[in-house]
Amino acid sequence: MYTRLKGGAAMINDQSDNGSKEASGRFLEIAEREVGRIILDIHDGPVQNIFAALSQLYVVQRRMVQQQPTPDDELNRIRRSITLLEHALNEIRNFMGAFRPPEFERRDLVSILEGLVIQHEELTGNPVSLEIVGELPAVPLPVKISLYRILQEALSNAVRHGQAQHHAVVLSSHEHCLTMEVRDDGRGFDVEAVLQRSRAGHFGVEGMRERVHLLGGRFSIESAPGLGTRVRVDVPCR
Ligand SMILES: Nc1ncnc2c1ncn2[C@@H]1O[C@H](COP(=O)(O)OP(=O)(O)OP(=O)(O)O)[C@@H](O)[C@H]1O
Ligand SMILES: [Mg+2]
Repeated sequence: MYTRLKGGAAMINDQSDNGSKEASGRFLEIAEREVGRIILDIHDGPVQNIFAALSQLYVVQRRMVQQQPTPDDELNRIRRSITLLEHALNEIRNFMGAFRPPEFERRDLVSILEGLVIQHEELTGNPVSLEIVGELPAVPLPVKISLYRILQEALSNAVRHGQAQHHAVVLSSHEHCLTMEVRDDGRGFDVEAVLQRSRAGHFGVEGMRERVHLLGGRFSIESAPGLGTRVRVDVPCR
């Protein structure tokens, strides 16, 4: 069953001023295009090379098996190399699948978030409920990109750090504002203690906060050990 957040959970809040939103929107679009280009480069470069190396090793392995007597030690080395390369290829493919930008221009917000939810369910086996409250307005590209990346990070953190098993995502709109709430039933954490510590090597929560800040919205993360975690984002729709 889903664990409800109770009172007393620690929380951080962030409300931004109205900076140059147009410039930040352009920055987000450029960043996503760059991610797309990097993914293509990885696909066309290292992935093709690993695949070519694997094909060569499959041939050598087949020939060695056919040769009599087979030099066991060398055959084992070839098998281990094949296994390592296959793992590397799978890891790169998973990474590319998770980070490839999902046609942000063409698809609407609900459709890209639904795609992400389904992908997360398939990868982790965790059910994710996605609730849309009321009629959502069409939102500009930077808002779509940010909500997608924030949901991706929130779901990933819940599994990686909280060992969560269920996630609930609620999207709702009020006047000129869109709200996304992502809750998990994981083991939670002491927000102030963890986020005050050295941030070296931990970019996720900071990145979420920064994305919301660039859009002129509000960000909060609420959690406590044993009580799950709730990420809430309010962004302007225009
Ligand atoms: N949903 C969650 N459940 C439990 N702990 C969490 C959750 N989200 C964040 N945390 C805690 O907050 C820390 C900071 O999270 P953050 O996403 O910033 O960094 P990270 O996930 O450790 O690294 P990165 O996102 O850069 O790969 C995590 O290391 C974890 O201790
Ligand atoms: Mg993270």
